[in-house]
Amino acid sequence: MCGIFGYIGSRRDATSAVFEGLKRLDYRGYDSWGVAVLQNKKILLDKHTGTVNKKLSKLPKSSISVGHTRWATHGSVTDTNAHPHFSSDGSFVLAQNGIMENYSSVKQNLFQKNYKFISQTDTEVIVRLIEEELKKEKDIIKATRSAFNKLKGRNTVIILTKDGQIIAVRNGSPLVLGFSKDKKEFYFSSDTLSFSPYVEKTITLDNGQMAIYSKNMLTIKNVKTGKNLPLLKVKNGITQKNEGKGKFNHFMIKEIFDQPSAIEEVIKQDKRKLEKLSKLIKKSKNVYCMGSGTAGAAAFQMAYYLRTYAGVNAIGLIGAECTEYLPLFSKEDLIIAPSQSGETADVLEILEMAKKKGVKVASYVNMPGSLITKISDISFMANAGAEICVMSTKVFISQIAFGYLVAKNTQEKYDQGVINLKILAKEMRKVLNNKDFLSQIKKIAKKLSKKKHIFLLGKGQNLQIIKEGMVKIIEGSYVHAHAIPAGDLKHYAITLMEAGVPIIPVVSNDAVSGDVENAINEIKARGAEIIKLPKLPDTGEVSAILNTVPLQLIAYYMAVYLKNNVDKPRNIAKSVTVK
Ligand code: G6P
Repeated sequence: MCGIFGYIGSRRDATSAVFEGLKRLDYRGYDSWGVAVLQNKKILLDKHTGTVNKKLSKLPKSSISVGHTRWATHGSVTDTNAHPHFSSDGSFVLAQNGIMENYSSVKQNLFQKNYKFISQTDTEVIVRLIEEELKKEKDIIKATRSAFNKLKGRNTVIILTKDGQIIAVRNGSPLVLGFSKDKKEFYFSSDTLSFSPYVEKTITLDNGQMAIYSKNMLTIKNVKTGKNLPLLKVKNGITQKNEGKGKFNHFMIKEIFDQPSAIEEVIKQDKRKLEKLSKLIKKSKNVYCMGSGTAGAAAFQMAYYLRTYAGVNAIGLIGAECTEYLPLFSKEDLIIAPSQSGETADVLEILEMAKKKGVKVASYVNMPGSLITKISDISFMANAGAEICVMSTKVFISQIAFGYLVAKNTQEKYDQGVINLKILAKEMRKVLNNKDFLSQIKKIAKKLSKKKHIFLLGKGQNLQIIKEGMVKIIEGSYVHAHAIPAGDLKHYAITLMEAGVPIIPVVSNDAVSGDVENAINEIKARGAEIIKLPKLPDTGEVSAILNTVPLQLIAYYMAVYLKNNVDKPRNIAKSVTVK
């Protein structure tokens, strides 16, 4: 949630470099944005609600600038609440990605000291706290350090001072740096994608580290001790590139078409590392698969595959909904965490607490250099390429294909698993390029766009697939959708089955298809409308992965028909770095 960006350099106009950087970052939140620049020792600020799209007419060209794109947490979506926020004397501005959990008590304290607050944000409390610390420290770096040590929560901040310094501090939310070889240009950002076309080297800061640009030099410090960390010893991070939309109208449809390649990347995963994970799974007392949102559905599907093909009693967990498991975790347990961003706060928090209890962590992440990767005992990169659309598609497919392969835990099963995934990639490519298939999907999407409620029905390997289909339809169309486990239909949802109600059954040619057929007949008998999906080739054990595609496409075309913002659905963000 929220993106921060900063630029110093003489090659580009800093004002437009930050503006452009924020455009690339606004998948992290698009409630409002703001840019601050330095001109003649004066900080000038321009802030707006909505996505980063207005021209920066108010601001002059500059050589140093910072900016922010916001997903609102504290305070409504207004220009005033947009970041960055000014210090009372205008000597610095600050923007935050995160939440200050103790803001209320600190604010109370500062009120008593007569500090004034213009916005309703927790971020302005950090600004005033630094001002208070400045009274003692007389130096912005020391004051920032000591204020930062008083913050609770996950807070990554960026500061621009009127004497031309940029100070960025990381705790929890991501912070990366990028610079040209000759070190004449410096970038600060929430992800490497936002500056990848311009840099030769990147650095991912760790929690508790700060980066300072001052007097033509970049320094990295430990926030607690204040000690400088040698730049050369900081590892060169990996950069992911945004390749653009190509021939497609939106990133979402481009990324759905990328899915066969994402499956082929799964097959390329290092076999020895996979064996290591298999061994870890076998010797663990409990195996938990955990994720949030779409990654939550992927985690449950991974657990399904582990139970079905590896005979492991794996349990699916939702990141924000599993704190009751904390006392149950032990050092004989394993958590497998699929995550697109590797930064999801609720997942991270559980992983950090579980690690303290000695639980082993394995992760499957698509974003290089993320915190989840860093804290994992064994980590895999999905290598699915940048996923820009806020709705996750290709990374979900990659995560569940990976879960399937991990579950095939003997040489024989693995070899068959690889064959099945190769066939899956081939068949998926054919389906996506089949014009007749796409036109049938479009017709369904058009029809569903006029409905108020949409139901999905599935069982067994398709249970999480209908859940993910539900998530995609809700996100893309803003129409209410509901996934019904076929076996549970008669226990509650059948009361809603009547004429005009649309139900999309998702069925595989497997041992439970007869049960789904029974549920379909019970629905038909009540006059509700069965939405028949175009027939897909039978891909056996991996058919649930292929069954995801028509649901993603229905969500996509519904979003298009309803004229929604396809790549940035309202109110959600791609990287959820706050709880
Ligand atoms: C947000 C995104 C979802 C994503 C979830 C978990 O809610 O909108 O698409 O599935 O976070 O994110 P992660 O980065 O852990 O996959």
